[in-house]
Amino acid sequence: MTDVPTRYLGELAVSAQGLGCMGMSHGYGAADDAQSIATLNRALDLGVTLLDTADFYGSGHNEELVGRAVAGRRDEVVLATKFGFANRLGEPTLIRGDAAYVRQACDASLRRLGVDHIDLYYQHRVDPQVPIEETVGAMAELVQAGKVRHLGLSEAGAQTIRRAHAVHPISALQSEWSLWTRDLEAEIVPVCRELGIGLVPFSPLGRGFLTGRYDSLDALAESDVRRSQPRFADGNLERNLAIVAKLNELAAARSVTAGQLALAWVQHRGDDVVPIPGTRRQRYLEENLAALAVELTADDLAAIEAAAPPERIAGSRYDANSLTFVNR
Ligand SMILES: NC(=O)c1ccc[n+]([C@@H]2O[C@H](COP(=O)([O-])OP(=O)(O)OC[C@H]3O[C@@H](n4cnc5c(N)ncnc54)[C@H](OP(=O)(O)O)[C@@H]3O)[C@@H](O)[C@H]2O)c1
Repeated sequence: MTDVPTRYLGELAVSAQGLGCMGMSHGYGAADDAQSIATLNRALDLGVTLLDTADFYGSGHNEELVGRAVAGRRDEVVLATKFGFANRLGEPTLIRGDAAYVRQACDASLRRLGVDHIDLYYQHRVDPQVPIEETVGAMAELVQAGKVRHLGLSEAGAQTIRRAHAVHPISALQSEWSLWTRDLEAEIVPVCRELGIGLVPFSPLGRGFLTGRYDSLDALAESDVRRSQPRFADGNLERNLAIVAKLNELAAARSVTAGQLALAWVQHRGDDVVPIPGTRRQRYLEENLAALAVELTADDLAAIEAAAPPERIAGSRYDANSLTFVNR
């Protein structure tokens, strides 16, 4: 296992790869808390510092789980969490970014995590009803109160990022970015780079699809949210398998896995990029960390990109309702 290098999100030092904790409580079928806590501890043992959770994941369960895992190891962790989905799981989406909600959500997250401060606090989705200045103004007050150290946004659009950053420095943008989701590259990534905002790609393994593990819907539990995501549904999954076939070929030639190649591609987007692959399992955690050592040349990167031409990706990354809340 290689040492995990350090990267910076704005001025916040983090491990070059974080660990996404969502699947330990939410979305991807049944999880086992003991297994998840062992994986979280293994991540810290191996030098991962950035743990990513949100109040929405498992309606609070995920923050409590992460809190239990880091109790006694708080100083080793850069704890990132998010607010913004005011609905509970399964209820219609309700995004809230008003100042009163920001304050209340932060206090609730601190309680569930069992900590006195959050290292990186993100707005999970921009509230279309509330000016971003109000939301970030309230987040900045949390920094002044010592409850939060750094601020982030998730799935914010370029203009929103500029307006937010004018109120208080934004350290990180967490948005979906992977070989099959590249819509932030044209406009949003350049704005982040201009402003010195770090990039945290979520679902860097394409929600696991790019590892080649999901070759049919039968591989997903009945309750798995991916069943209702267009890229996995309606025959699109079968069409998208062409990407995985090509990735497997390229990976085999380098004696790595398709998932490692997909992750290495994300890591090569720049020194300001810190992906947060999600896993509940130590085996995958270790495999994903080993991708940090995969060096890719310009020719390698071009070959990997040719495996996933945007026009050949079948299905959008979210359903129509969820798409209305991204990049805005
Ligand atoms: N800001 C947002 O709106 C947003 C949205 C989605 C996610 N996120 C964050 O981003 C994190 C990562 O995204 P994600 O979990 O959606 O997608 P991902 O990291 O692309 O993929 C996770 C899936 O891949 C599987 N997996 C991981 N490593 C693997 C490997 N080496 N081989 C085979 N399968 C592997 C996991 O399985 P197991 O779990 O079974 O190990 C899980 O099903 C989340 O945990 C969450 O913290 C944020």
